[in-house]
Amino acid sequence: MRRPKILVVDDEPMIQKVLERVIEATIPSDITTASSGYQALGLLKREPFDVVITDFSMPGMDGPEFLAIVKDLRPDAVRLIFTGNDGADSALRAVDVAHQYFLKPTAMMTISDRIQRVLKIRDLLPEACSLEQIVSQIETLPSIPAVYHELEVELHNPDVSMEKIGKIVAQDISLSAKVLQLVNSAFFGLREGVSNPAQASTLLGLKVLQALILTTHIFSEWKDKKLPGFSIHDLWDHSLGTAAIAQEIALAEAADTATKEDLYVAALFHDIGKLIVAANLPDSYLRVREICRKDKVSEVEAEIQVMGVSHAEAGAYLLAVWGFSDAVVNGSAFHHHPERHAAGVSPDTVVPLDSVAIVHVADVFEHETRGDVSPTSLKLNAAYLRSAGVVDRIFQWRSVATLGQRASVRRI
Ligand SMILES: [Fe+2]
Ligand SMILES: [Fe+2]
Repeated sequence: MRRPKILVVDDEPMIQKVLERVIEATIPSDITTASSGYQALGLLKREPFDVVITDFSMPGMDGPEFLAIVKDLRPDAVRLIFTGNDGADSALRAVDVAHQYFLKPTAMMTISDRIQRVLKIRDLLPEACSLEQIVSQIETLPSIPAVYHELEVELHNPDVSMEKIGKIVAQDISLSAKVLQLVNSAFFGLREGVSNPAQASTLLGLKVLQALILTTHIFSEWKDKKLPGFSIHDLWDHSLGTAAIAQEIALAEAADTATKEDLYVAALFHDIGKLIVAANLPDSYLRVREICRKDKVSEVEAEIQVMGVSHAEAGAYLLAVWGFSDAVVNGSAFHHHPERHAAGVSPDTVVPLDSVAIVHVADVFEHETRGDVSPTSLKLNAAYLRSAGVVDRIFQWRSVATLGQRASVRRI
C-alpha cells in the first residue's frame, strides 16, 4: 500500500514538531511541515497530499482561509483543523471548510487517531469506491457538539466519575431531556423512572450516551432544514429501530457490555451516510430517487451510478473522521454488502457477533417489521451469514427483533 502523504501547517515550530512526532509514531507516512498557509499552498500546487492538517490561528492567512483554497485546489485531500478557541464563530468558520475540527489541548493524540482511522478506510473500501472520491464529494460534515468534546476529554480522564459526566450532560437542557426520555422508554424496561442525567448515563453506558448525544445533536441540527425528498424523521425512526434490534440480538447472545455498546452504536449510525448525501449533494440525491423509481433498482445501485459511492461508504468515512471504533465504521461500510467485508477477513477471525453481520441483519429486520419490503429492498445475505457462522441463529434473532422494534422509542 502507498504511504500516505500528510501536510502539517502551523506557525509555531514547537507544535509542528509535536504533531509530526505524534503522527510519525502511529502512522507510517511521509510528513511535510509548513509554517504558513502561503508556504503550504506552494507545496500543494506542486504535489498532492492525502491529509492536510492546519492550525486555526496563524498570522497572515489563517487556517479557514487556507483550507478554503485547499478545498478548490485539492478537493480530494482530507482537511482537518485544530483550534484553541471553542467559540461558536470559529467552529462555524472551521466547519465550513474542514472535514473536521479539533479543540486543543487534547487535540494531538485525537488528531493522530482520526488520521489513522480515515486512512484505514482506504483498505476497507471496495476498489470501485476510493476515499478520494468520497472526500471530494463531501463538502461539509455535520459538526460535533461542544458537549461531546467535553465528554471525550472526561472519558480519557482516569478519575472520571458518573457524577461529572451527568453534570456535563445536564448543562444542555434539551439534550438531558432527550437522554432521560430514552432511558425511561420501554426499551430499557426500568420499573422506576429516572430523572437524573448522572443515573441515566450509568444506565446507558458511556459509549451509547456519547453516540446518542451526537445523533440527537445532528438530527436536531438538520431537523428544520429542507432537504428535498428526504425525511430526517424517517431516518431517525429507522436508526433507533435498527439500534434497538441490534441491542436485542446482543442481549439474546449474552454479549459482553463493550460488544453490546458497539453494536448499538454501529446500528444507530449505519445509515448516517444518507444524511450526508442528501445534505451535501441534494441534486444527486433527487436523481438517485428518480432512478430507483424509474429503473426499479436499489438505492445503493442508484447511488453508485450517480455518485460513484453509496451512503454506506460516505457514512463509514464520516464515522472514521469522528474516531469511532472499527466495529462501528465497518457496520456502516458493509451493511448492504457484508460479503465485501468477508472477502478481506480470514474465516477464523469472523466472530459471531461481528458488527457487520448484526447491523446487516438488524437493518433488514427493521424494514421487515415495518412492512417496508419491495423487490429492491435489502435482503438477508444468506451466504455471508453462513460464512459468519450465524445462519442458524436467524430464526431466534427474528423473534427478538420484533420485541426490539416494538420497544424502541420513536421520535424522541
Ligand atoms: Fe443503508
Ligand atoms: Fe438502513
